Amino acid sequence: MTTMTLRKPHPDRPMEGMMAKWYAANTAEMMQQYVDLAARIAPQLEAGSRVLEVAPGPGYFCIELAKRGSYAIIGLDLSQSFVKMAAEKAAAADVNVKFTQGSASKMPFPNDCFDFLLCRAAFKNFADPVGALQEMCRVLKPGSRALLIDLSRDARPDEVSRAVDEMGLSAMNRLLTKMVFKTMLIRNAYTREEFEQMLAQTQFSRVEIGGNGMGFEIWMTK
Ligand SMILES: C[S@@+](CC[C@H](N)C(=O)[O-])C[C@H]1O[C@@H](n2cnc3c(N)ncnc32)[C@H](O)[C@@H]1O
Repeated sequence: MTTMTLRKPHPDRPMEGMMAKWYAANTAEMMQQYVDLAARIAPQLEAGSRVLEVAPGPGYFCIELAKRGSYAIIGLDLSQSFVKMAAEKAAAADVNVKFTQGSASKMPFPNDCFDFLLCRAAFKNFADPVGALQEMCRVLKPGSRALLIDLSRDARPDEVSRAVDEMGLSAMNRLLTKMVFKTMLIRNAYTREEFEQMLAQTQFSRVEIGGNGMGFEIWMTK
């Protein structure tokens, strides 16, 4: 196997200010994706489960999940703007979710404390992706699972274009989103081989890499 340098050549980059506002408005137009994901995950969780979303951004998944059951949900994001915004959105939705500021590769939580962990559309941005995977494993309870959803570096341009067309965005946002995918997101994303290499450096007892040509859904069991 070839050895790749997986650490990003830049420090972590939280989304702040205008960028956070744009992302929150753009993804609000795709709310159904968060609703569907929460509806998929909720039946797998027992009442009272402790749930962590790593890098929740505006907090849409956490909020949708909180509407579906009595869970203790925490969102951990590096961005001050998003922590504030997500807390406001949770209050407006009248759900109890805690959002806190911190890094995926240095989580402010003890070992073995979560029953489920989600990291969606964020992993490719982390400066220290292996460190983040190791932290995900550390904070999960033994036997509990994490779901990592992210874009594939091998996503074909026509697949990306079709996926963006299906997001239900306005014409302007569709154009902008396609440009962001092409110029930033795909370049930062990982291949299946890279994921395998990173996951080999963790203590997860079981890993299943699924998904489609566009991206991965990786289930990791501690
Ligand atoms: C594209 S947004 C994804 C938000 C959300 N998960 C979603 O599905 O809409 C990426 C998020 O990752 C956060 N982020 C980037 N680096 C981070 C790190 N090292 N630790 C925690 N959050 C980070 C950013 O601040 C941003 O909120």
